[in-house]
Amino acid sequence: MAIEKVGVVGCGLMGSGIAQVCATAGFTTTVSEVDDKRLQAGLERIGAQLARSVEKGKLRDNDKAAILARLHGTTRLTDLAACDVVIEAATENLEAKKQVFVTLDGILAKHALLASNTSSLTIVELAAATQRPDRVLGLHFFNPVPVMKLVEVVRTIVTSDAAFAAARQFVVALGKDVVEAKDTTGFVVNRLLVPYMLDAVRCYEQGLASKEDIDRGMKLGCGYPMGPFELLDFVGLDTTLYIAEIMFEEFREPRFAPPSLLRRMVLAGHLGKKSGRGFYDYR
Ligand code: CAA
Repeated sequence: MAIEKVGVVGCGLMGSGIAQVCATAGFTTTVSEVDDKRLQAGLERIGAQLARSVEKGKLRDNDKAAILARLHGTTRLTDLAACDVVIEAATENLEAKKQVFVTLDGILAKHALLASNTSSLTIVELAAATQRPDRVLGLHFFNPVPVMKLVEVVRTIVTSDAAFAAARQFVVALGKDVVEAKDTTGFVVNRLLVPYMLDAVRCYEQGLASKEDIDRGMKLGCGYPMGPFELLDFVGLDTTLYIAEIMFEEFREPRFAPPSLLRRMVLAGHLGKKSGRGFYDYR
């Protein structure tokens, strides 16, 4: 199955990154948002990222223009009707995602693949909401999307071999590396990463060391690019709490249980970089 036209639902941090990567790889890309304000903010983020690459001499000005010419924004899901694959990167909310899947299922061509960028929800539940469950799968990108090489390609118990192969080939065409994963909460990376970040919070809560030293320890001792608290602030404390709650619900293992400090920081609005304050102060 040849993929030429790509749709992306959501132009937030992940959606804009995914749309940027698709358009950069040569695909005609249409990205949708729920309103014009969010759409413009997302498109501006992409424009700024590409402009930075030009400034750094990593992208030519005419290549930037060609990428932007392949990229279209819309506030109507119906504008994605001609896409061969649509990647949903909307808010991490099952009902909202289901609604998007049902709508897209009704307007896309029969051959089109429907993918979700969810990091914690069960893909087969989204598949079951459509009339094409064999062509639904997970494409889990990592933040920042233009930089991180990995995409987890997630197959459910009903994804067809043909759909999976086409999705895999598409991800390779984006210049990303594939890890194949089963449709189990957290897939591969979050299954290991989330308990690690939660454990770091527990260590800090118990007074093992300062957060700065825990971060320095993991960066200098293990060569990680960010320490766990820097990473928590980067991913978002609310996002991490949400994922942890879903994983705890699924596995009922204490290592997935969100520590009280994390919950309280989210309640206080200390969500990380995006709110100006998390474990560190960015104001
Ligand atoms: N968007 C796009 N590009 C970005 C970026 C962003 N937000 N932040 C940094 N970059 C680019 C820079 O432009 C730079 O590009 P060049 O090499 O072309 O100049 C490159 O990344 C390196 O950036 P910096 O030199 O500014 O900073 P750095 O070396 O500290 O790298 C980082 C920044 C890439 C974010 C690095 O710290 C890193 O890899 N951190 C870990 C990120 C990570 O673990 N992500 C996964 C999160 S978990 C997830 O996403 C899954 C989930 O479901 C929760």
